[in-house]
Amino acid sequence: MQFPTRFADLPEYAFPRLRRLLAGIEPGGPEIAMSIGEPQHAIPDFVPEILQRHAATLNRYPPIEGIPELRRAISDWLGRRYGVAEGYRDPERNILPLNGTREGLFNTCLALSPETKGGQRPAVLIPNPFYQCYAVAALMAGAEPVYLPCTAETGHLPDFAALPEALLARTTIAYICSPANPQGAVADRAYWTTLLRLAETYDFRIFADECYCEIYRDEAPAGALEVASEIGADPDRLVAFHSLSKRSNLAGLRSGFAATGGANMAAMKQLRSYTGAPMPIPAQYAAAATWAEESHVVANRALYQEKFALADDILGNMPGYMSPQAGFFLWLRVDDGEATSVRLWREAGVRSLPGEYLSRPVPEWLASRGSGANPGFEYVRLALVAPAADVRRGLEAVRAVLS
Ligand SMILES: Cc1ncc(COP(=O)(O)O)c(C=O)c1O
Repeated sequence: MQFPTRFADLPEYAFPRLRRLLAGIEPGGPEIAMSIGEPQHAIPDFVPEILQRHAATLNRYPPIEGIPELRRAISDWLGRRYGVAEGYRDPERNILPLNGTREGLFNTCLALSPETKGGQRPAVLIPNPFYQCYAVAALMAGAEPVYLPCTAETGHLPDFAALPEALLARTTIAYICSPANPQGAVADRAYWTTLLRLAETYDFRIFADECYCEIYRDEAPAGALEVASEIGADPDRLVAFHSLSKRSNLAGLRSGFAATGGANMAAMKQLRSYTGAPMPIPAQYAAAATWAEESHVVANRALYQEKFALADDILGNMPGYMSPQAGFFLWLRVDDGEATSVRLWREAGVRSLPGEYLSRPVPEWLASRGSGANPGFEYVRLALVAPAADVRRGLEAVRAVLS
């Protein structure tokens, strides 16, 4: 394969890599799929009718900036969910519907990452382990991705404040995922406040990936935009990304949004008007109705809460178990993640993802702040997306193999 050199270090993508790892090994039972974080609960029942009702609009090119009804519904949701002040969620100025957050997490980096900062190559800070799209976005923008270990020692979130000044000075963008995939860690108000102040001091932007914000245990996670609005931060310091994929089990609708200040938004829309592929209009109407409806979100969360409780019950007394605060993954500390994935497959038919497929080796200069060469090496990720009975079977199999 011929790849441009800027992608030379890109590892094989996690899922083909997993298929290669397990190829030719007989599963030790009927397959229990726990590797992919694809929602399996039902879609909201009102969505198909809305798609059908607006099907005649499919002859039209959808507006790049999204239909007004969708921007309004998103703005109202930000107000209800987080109490975000109106100046941070003006449907005309602050909100851009996306084809899912993935698209926005990628394109927004291209729109907002400058060629240089202070005469140097920009650094884009990335939590490690992480959602892999962030790294490719940084490379596409010509920036250096800097992977920050998120380990038990750092509360499974990046310790931005501990970074050397020289690095912060050339930082243009800091990605952060809260609730975090894979660890389920949640940034609290104090964390967001510190990060917003740091971004102000060193003049960088925060890209807050909050697509798991509605899947939580007891307490709704604070949002980046909520805290920005509370402390009166510059709205252009932050781009918050949200999605219907997990909140409403609509991964296939491809619908999310970005919220940010007017200056960022102007750049994002301008780039998008050249290259963007906006959501089909029927999908935009369906998304508008979905942001406006909460009862399905409560019911969906209850299904995950049941599975969190199962995980606590079944794996709670295993030494490597960490009860997630939110999200829908278990980040299980084992010994060697790859070897464990093979064992789980061979002995029980459980498909898990080796943690190192989601992480990168920690550079020398940062190693003392992390717990080893690759912060994912000792972990496997298990997705709690299947129906509870299947999750129970999977977790019991995991316990039987690992204890
Ligand atoms: C951390 C994280 N960010 C973003 C996404 C992309 O979600 P979307 O379906 O909104 O593009 C995912 C999907 O798995 C994810 O895990």
